[in-house]
Amino acid sequence: MYTGLQHLHSYLAYLVLLGLLISIGAALVGLSGNRLFTDKDRKLGLFGLIATHLQIVFGLILYFVSPLGVSNFSGPNMKDSVSRLYMLEHPLMMVIAAILVTVGYSRAKRMVGNGTGGFKSIAIFYIIALVLILVRIPWVSWPGN
Ligand code: HEM
Ligand code: HEM
Repeated sequence: MYTGLQHLHSYLAYLVLLGLLISIGAALVGLSGNRLFTDKDRKLGLFGLIATHLQIVFGLILYFVSPLGVSNFSGPNMKDSVSRLYMLEHPLMMVIAAILVTVGYSRAKRMVGNGTGGFKSIAIFYIIALVLILVRIPWVSWPGN
């Protein structure tokens, strides 16, 4: 169970980065073309949203199964930067990033057929989320060797 989840979470991370890049790229192209934000453009925003939501669900499960997750949470481990990353900083930052992606998508959804605002919402929120994700991915172990 643990190894399977660990691998799944590790592979899904590629999908999250790819999904966010596709959604961000599409939004920037739409924005630069000064086009109307349509339902098709909303669907391009789903790449980043679905991949991120899926990863959060498996990340949460992994957090209770992994020896690096909640079971490693203790005062002394707070002083260890790698322990702290896995038990606190990574989960917290990823949840914040997922909330930003969801807010960006929800705002865009309400702007379908209404100017370029949907592109802006996806571009801004997804880019900030992507930066937060990149800052707190455990690069010590990923993508591995
Ligand atoms: C956008 C969301 C997320 C991304 C892109 C992501 C990405 C990653 C990556 C790349 C690793 C390293 C995997 C490896 O060493 O092969 C990892 C490990 C881990 N993540 Fe996430 N993660 C996300 C969300 C979460 C959430 C929400 C939680 C917990 C609530 C979580 C808990 C963990 C844990 C406990 C590990 C260590 C697993 C182990 O090796 O035992 N992740 N994550
Ligand atoms: C921790 C679990 C989850 C939470 C808290 C969550 C939360 C949310 C929220 C608040 C929205 C609303 C966005 C809007 O305003 O339209 C949303 C939308 C969505 N979520 Fe999740 N989600 C979760 C898991 C998942 C999973 C596992 C999937 C599928 C892989 C998923 C797929 C979607 C999709 C496709 C939408 C967009 C629906 C639409 O077009 O309105 N979510 N989610």
